[in-house]
Amino acid sequence: MKQTGDEMQDVGIIGLGCYLPPEKITNSDLEKLVDTSDQWIITRTGIRERRKASQEVASSDLGVEASKVAIKDAGLNPEDIDLIITATITPDMAFPATACIIQDKIGARNAAAFDINAACTGFVFAINVAQLFVSTGTYNNVLVVGAEKLTSIVDWTDRSTCVLFGDGAGACIVGKSKDRRIISSFMGADGSGGHLLNLPAGGSRLPATEETVKKRLHFLKMEGNEVFKVAVRIMAEAASNAIKKIGLECNDIDLLIPHQANIRILMAVAKRLGLSEDRIFMNIEKYGNMSAASTAVALVEASQENRVKKGGNVVLVAFGGGLTYGATVIKW
Ligand code: UT7
Repeated sequence: MKQTGDEMQDVGIIGLGCYLPPEKITNSDLEKLVDTSDQWIITRTGIRERRKASQEVASSDLGVEASKVAIKDAGLNPEDIDLIITATITPDMAFPATACIIQDKIGARNAAAFDINAACTGFVFAINVAQLFVSTGTYNNVLVVGAEKLTSIVDWTDRSTCVLFGDGAGACIVGKSKDRRIISSFMGADGSGGHLLNLPAGGSRLPATEETVKKRLHFLKMEGNEVFKVAVRIMAEAASNAIKKIGLECNDIDLLIPHQANIRILMAVAKRLGLSEDRIFMNIEKYGNMSAASTAVALVEASQENRVKKGGNVVLVAFGGGLTYGATVIKW
């Protein structure tokens, strides 16, 4: 039966899992492809290596592996999942949704399934949507997946972008729980900045032609400097909005888990929020930017590394193409 507002359920993260494909691309590997250096990449981005899925692997395959771990971690069976939301900008294909492909592959035959396209903010948006479905009593167990094969849309001749991105997937189960409880969320968008970070061709605006392929319009494009400036301001604002909505201050954040775009962005966001480095979770060194999978994998690893004590306030915050931005506060 549908719940009324007075009967809202406590909603938490009841299972977590991630999957990183084994092949690594190091900075010295990239030195052989484009005019770059290990030193430039480390000092300007903080990235040492990133993962690359093999040619036959698609985002759904990465998502399936992460989902299986998360479902097991929650002590559930695939049939117990009511809804799958997959956040990705590298779907297996334009349609069907990658969430439907994952549903079939894991045997979650009782689940509805759809994708969210909010680029790097996708996992945060998806958790926030899942929280609403569970809090109203519509669904009990929602599988949220961030899965990306960004190496399939990176232009390996463009040194300003190809050094940044990698492949991976993270997943969580959002369900009824008083532990790791989702206590606040914030979401925003600014479509006027869409041109700063996009993949121009292959949609209805510019369907694939010989010319779009020749012009390399099927690869990710980014105006890095502009994106950098917005990212610092907007991630700090999103985290601050989500925490202040529930009467807390930025100083009450025990661990900030930001989208892993650039170590300099993370340090600048921390500074704006007045947080010391030990309260920022970072794994960018190992994986680079995995778009929607970044915050997902970071949440899983922060949990595995016991970075937060019970009762601590964790803030997931992200920013990305759209432009989109958002945050989620979890009472650990
Ligand atoms: O996930 C979505 C959100 N994405 C982001 O938030 C990414 C935000 N942007 C960034 O992280 C940074 O802007 C980049 C890492 C992309 C670029 O760093 P930057 O410090 O802003 O460099 P820049 O674009 O200002 O370029 C500085 C110089 C240029 O050379 P000149 O014109 O000064 O001679 C670039 O051509 O660095 C050059 N450069 C490189 N040099 C060696 C750009 N990429 C490279 C490279 N290796 N890979």
